[in-house]
Amino acid sequence: EKGNYRHFMQKEIFEQPTVVAQTLRSYLRPIEQQVALPQLDFDISKINRVTIVACGTSYYAGMVAKYWFEQFARTPVDIDYASEFRYRAPVLEPGGLALFISQSGETADTLAALRHCKAEGQTIAVLVNVPTSSMAREADLLLPTHAGPEIGVASTKAFSCQLAVLAALAAHFAVRKGRMTHDEEAEVVKHLMEAPAALNAALAHDDEMAAMAPLIAPARDVLYIGRGPDFPLALEGALKLKEISYIHAEGYAAGEMKHGPIALIDEAVPVIVLAPSGPLFEKTVSNMQEVRARGGKIVLISDREGLDEAGEGCMAKIEMPRVHPLIAPLVYAVPVQLLAYHVAVSKGTDVDQPRNLAKSVTVE
Ligand code: F6R
Repeated sequence: EKGNYRHFMQKEIFEQPTVVAQTLRSYLRPIEQQVALPQLDFDISKINRVTIVACGTSYYAGMVAKYWFEQFARTPVDIDYASEFRYRAPVLEPGGLALFISQSGETADTLAALRHCKAEGQTIAVLVNVPTSSMAREADLLLPTHAGPEIGVASTKAFSCQLAVLAALAAHFAVRKGRMTHDEEAEVVKHLMEAPAALNAALAHDDEMAAMAPLIAPARDVLYIGRGPDFPLALEGALKLKEISYIHAEGYAAGEMKHGPIALIDEAVPVIVLAPSGPLFEKTVSNMQEVRARGGKIVLISDREGLDEAGEGCMAKIEMPRVHPLIAPLVYAVPVQLLAYHVAVSKGTDVDQPRNLAKSVTVE
């Protein structure tokens, strides 16, 4: 069932324009320019706090969502790893929405955290890719992604579909709370509708990513940096690379570099910089220049404007389409996935079944 693809992961990366469009179809009403959610049997406008709990890549999707909930709905958001959350003493006030994000819907820690929140009287929202999963069955609000079965152990298409639903959810929530006007909602709908084409444009750079992989493959360590909603993408990029290529990688908020990690920089450490044009571009680029001044080899991932402005002296430049900052995290997922994929292929690792990992972590 891999068709013309060499690995499931590669196929799943390339499916993203289609499955994101498919997912968005059930959350957007393009004609009315509205976000649509499944019928709710609770009043979402009364929710005063959101607690997001997840693991791994799903956790990073939740981190992106925190920016959106805060920006659109001005609602406080807590986020934690399920394995930490369940053994803390989290303060869950009445009127809270607990949101669990999981591709499989079976991750043991996330499921246990869900049951804890349920017992504490939180409203339970579940964002899963497997609609028949354990988590789905326990939801007050079930938000399915329509990514189709994800076979590769490293999550790719489930992540971009999670982001698409989370953007729609945050906007819907903001509208219902009276924090977003219809015109603003229409803008969100418009930008989300642009995501599938932008994902296609990002995928068109596959050959460049493949050509660059041999530059990264010999590295012992790789750093990823980004800011704002693209900071979680730096974490996701690093996770993908470690998982399938076994290269040590870390993601950092770009502004944190000078607080420690910059000490690691020398000519042997490639630094992947995620810097879409937008309000944070200049800030990220100034952190990138600090890295370059210390001999770091930079791979700059940005759009044409960004590469023209800041690309000089970089080891490699990867051009993304110019997109609205809202959809940048979806679009920039593609190059970090492709980079990990091609580095793993050039190292000859088992891309779809990396060592020591299971697709669904149903034990603690
Ligand atoms: C990373 C990856 C894992 C999962 C994590 C949570 O590529 O696949 O980090 O994201 O195990 O799994 P789900 O989303 O099924 O709860």
